[in-house]
This record gives sequence, structure tokens and C-alpha cells, in this order.
Amino acid sequence: MNATAASSAELQLAAGGSSDLDSVIEIMNAAFDDRFGEAWTRSQCAGILPMPGVSLMIARFGDGRVAGFSLQRGISDEAELLLLAVSPEFRRRGIGKMLLDHFLSQARDNGASRVHLEVREGNPAVIMYRSAGFALVGRRRKYYRGRFGGEFDALTLSRQI
Ligand SMILES: CC(C)(COP(=O)(O)OP(=O)(O)OC[C@H]1O[C@@H](n2cnc3c(N)ncnc32)[C@H](O)[C@@H]1OP(=O)(O)O)[C@@H](O)C(=O)NCCC(=O)NCCS
Repeated sequence: MNATAASSAELQLAAGGSSDLDSVIEIMNAAFDDRFGEAWTRSQCAGILPMPGVSLMIARFGDGRVAGFSLQRGISDEAELLLLAVSPEFRRRGIGKMLLDHFLSQARDNGASRVHLEVREGNPAVIMYRSAGFALVGRRRKYYRGRFGGEFDALTLSRQI
């Protein structure tokens, strides 16, 4: 591998902001299936970003391509993973896990003792969360409303850190 190829393959996590919204929406639209209504709109993302405790993390290759992102919020001694998405073309390479691990260590560094998240029942991401130590603590019935009318429960997962 030559030097250019090596640096373009290198993936780094970096804090993002409103200037990354185009990339976030592009990944969001590619990553989430319309049938389930889990994706956020651009205005939802833009609205939450300036709020206290909210942060965006971007996974980007050395050549600038964005592979995924996470959006999280810290409140007092808890942290919540609001969104985690990886572009379909870069899945199953450990990028989702890398973003999740970073969320956990950032939460720990910020003094959180517990983290939680909501995920649609049946989403394969549950497998990743469970293997990262999250356990089921609740269920929100019909929390997600799909574009074509279906309604889907959200599972609330949590773990101590
Ligand atoms: C969930 C998601 C972020 C995972 O990203 P990823 O980069 O593919 O995840 P990783 O490669 O880090 O996977 C880590 C482990 O999680 C599990 N996992 C991830 N995706 C899985 C899938 N589709 N089916 C089964 N297990 C899966 C596996 O154990 C995997 O390890 P392995 O590949 O060695 O078997 C990605 O599939 C995605 O963007 N999905 C759509 C958005 C979404 O639903 N986000 C979660 C709710 S906010």
C-alpha cells in the first residue's frame, strides 16, 4: 500500500458541529430504513446540536469521506446515546463499535455513572449494544412510526459505566 492509500484508509473520530450537518444527513438517510421511522430530520439535528451537553462525533477517513457518526447528550451523572449510524458501504468493520466505545469513554470522563439509549425492537444494533453490556430496562410502545404507517416499539437499554 502506498502512503496516499494508507492515509485515506485511516479512520479517525473527531468532534463535529453544525458544519457537518450535510454529512450527518447523508449518512442518516443511507443508514436508516424508511420503513421504521428511526431517522431524524435535519431540523431535529440542527435544533439539538446547540443544546447543553449535546455532542456530535464524526468517523472520517483520511481522504475526508465520512463513514458514520454518533450524537449524544450528557445530563448530570447520565449520558444518552441519541443516534449512531454507519454508512451501509462501511458496515461490519468495527466503526459502529468504535463510535460506541468512544461514547462510553467520553461519558465516563464526563462523570456519568450510567448510560442509556433507545433502539427499535428488532434492530440488529441491539446485538451490538447487548454485547457492549447494555441490558433491557424498559419499552416504549409504538415509539417509532414508519413512513408507510407501521408502529414499532422502542427498547430502552442501559448499563453502568
Ligand atoms: C448499527 C450500526 C451502527 C452498526 O455499525 P457497524 O459499523 O456495522 O458495526 P460494527 O462493525 O462495529 O459491529 C460490531 C458488532 O456488532 C454486531 N452487529 C453489528 N451489526 C450487526 C448486524 N447487522 N447483525 C448482527 N450483528 C451486528 C456484531 O456483533 C458486530 O461484530 P462482528 O462484525 O465482529 O460480528 C449500523 O448497522 C447502522 O448504521 N445501522 C442503521 C442505523 C441504526 O439502526 N443505528 C442504531 C440505532 S440509533
